[in-house]
Amino acid sequence: MNITIIGGGNLGTAMALGLQESQIKAKITVTRRSLERIQYLVDKGIAISAHNPGAIENADIIILALKPFQIAPVLQEIGTSTRGKIVLSLATGVTMAEMQALVADGTFLGRAMPNTAIEKGESMTCMAINPLFSAIQKDKLSKIFEALGEVIWIDEKLFDAATVLGACGIAYVMRFIRGMMQGGIQIGFDSQTALRIAAQTVKGAATILLEEDTHPEREIDKVTTPRGCTIAGLNEMEHQGFSSALIKGFRLLIRRLLRLRRTLPEL
Ligand SMILES: NC(=O)c1ccc[n+]([C@@H]2O[C@H](COP(=O)([O-])OP(=O)(O)OC[C@H]3O[C@@H](n4cnc5c(N)ncnc54)[C@H](OP(=O)(O)O)[C@@H]3O)[C@@H](O)[C@H]2O)c1
Repeated sequence: MNITIIGGGNLGTAMALGLQESQIKAKITVTRRSLERIQYLVDKGIAISAHNPGAIENADIIILALKPFQIAPVLQEIGTSTRGKIVLSLATGVTMAEMQALVADGTFLGRAMPNTAIEKGESMTCMAINPLFSAIQKDKLSKIFEALGEVIWIDEKLFDAATVLGACGIAYVMRFIRGMMQGGIQIGFDSQTALRIAAQTVKGAATILLEEDTHPEREIDKVTTPRGCTIAGLNEMEHQGFSSALIKGFRLLIRRLLRLRRTLPEL
């Protein structure tokens, strides 16, 4: 299988490296205009190119890891050669209907919203595809992203929400861990030890939730004794707006995404 990733930026290179480390047997090519910035990928067995039409010639799957405003010019460049190929966009806010107008009939279009943990094979990827896909093609695509983490198939209209919760979500979790570190340093740990404790605690909590049929509040009940210290700390955090700050952040971000869509040039 040949996979070409157009757009070797943060996400494109993270995905290429994740794929190279995974069980997926594929020849991977990454493109970008400033080729010198992805030269290091060659040592890892990944081909690079600055010429999109050439790079997709033998591709079975084309991944567009481009900023939203870069999708239209690139589809105008390659769109006539995509018949029979899978073209999957990772961009926020550009719909399959908008892309459809710029690609050859018979192109298998889809969207995926991963996060940067894709490089470690731990992405949460939400996906949607057009009705042309056969069950075999859908399965092929699933297997690629399952090798890079978890996959959930969603309705395309939930893509902005998937961006907020899953893709941007990684930044919120990072800030949460940093907050735990700052607290940990204040109560006596050096920063490296605080980081290890905070990160492993987050990983442990996530593992419980992903592997057991449980709910965060049930797990919180287990560690909060009546009149105890844990509940006192937790309640103080809620008084300071802990959950509310997250919810307000999500609402602001989704409004921003909708506004961004309105300011994108027509495709
Ligand atoms: N970062 C995330 O966590 C994340 C998560 C989910 C989804 N996304 C989505 O993924 C997309 C990419 O995000 P990113 O953070 O990776 O952006 P980025 O770092 O800016 O990467 C975009 C890359 O595209 C390249 N590019 C631009 N025009 C090109 C062209 N004509 N041909 C080939 N390459 C071209 C750019 O390099 P040159 O200028 O050198 O060509 C740049 O390296 C965005 O739409 C974002 O919404 C990102």
